[in-house]
Amino acid sequence: MSKQRTKLVVGNWKMHGRLAENAVLLQAVAQGAGELSADVRVGVCVPGPYLAQAQSLLSGSRVVWGAQDVSAFTQGAYTGEVAASMVVDFGASLVIVGHSERRAYHRESSELVAVKAQRVLEAGLTPVVCVGETLEEREAGSTEQVVGDQLDAVLVKLSDVEAARIVVAYEPVWAIGTGKSATSEQAQAVHAFLRSRLAAKGAAVADVPLLYGGSVKPENAEELFRQPDIDGGLIGGASLKAQDFLAICKAAGAASVAG
Ligand code: 13P
Repeated sequence: MSKQRTKLVVGNWKMHGRLAENAVLLQAVAQGAGELSADVRVGVCVPGPYLAQAQSLLSGSRVVWGAQDVSAFTQGAYTGEVAASMVVDFGASLVIVGHSERRAYHRESSELVAVKAQRVLEAGLTPVVCVGETLEEREAGSTEQVVGDQLDAVLVKLSDVEAARIVVAYEPVWAIGTGKSATSEQAQAVHAFLRSRLAAKGAAVADVPLLYGGSVKPENAEELFRQPDIDGGLIGGASLKAQDFLAICKAAGAASVAG
């Protein structure tokens, strides 16, 4: 349902960055974000070791920050894992869970993603729950089945109040890092489906932000963000260039004014 919503644009740096270049990028994003319309919220999800740097350079700006994954455990003998409470220690507010790269390369199941979303919520953070189909699944006509199952696996574990606190990102796997975005019609169709799934969980849940991710660029962002059920974007490659990321944030502002 078309309803005026604030737009949310989140950068996912993935495994990119070095201290010196991050500083330039974070400062530029913090400065540029200050000039955006009040209807746009901006976040960046950085590699874990750079959370302290994000905190130091983004505190006091309009940009919030977060991590790209957390452990399904709260603490203990889990070598290499990072707990949600540790992310909290660095002033973060967002954590991506269930990114397709983690589902594919780390064999994360939807059930594990659901537990991670619970840990993130318990820590007082916002999980950005990613769902999305592969090209084979789309061509087999099973997009709704796949993304519906991925979303339901999370929703079933959450109370209505918890579910109303999540963000959902639809990221078709075939559009990630390929330069080939979903068309605005394709994305809107899946977002409308996800919206109805969320609405089935409760009226407050229907309003959770639904982000689109997959080859979002300055050139296609506004058209995508104008769709009634697209509340913003999860941006990979383009979030590593301040100029492009800020242009996408501006497009979100223009789309939110256009309603
Ligand atoms: P790209 O914007 O590089 O296609 O990546 C999208 C993504 O996976 C964001 O999480």
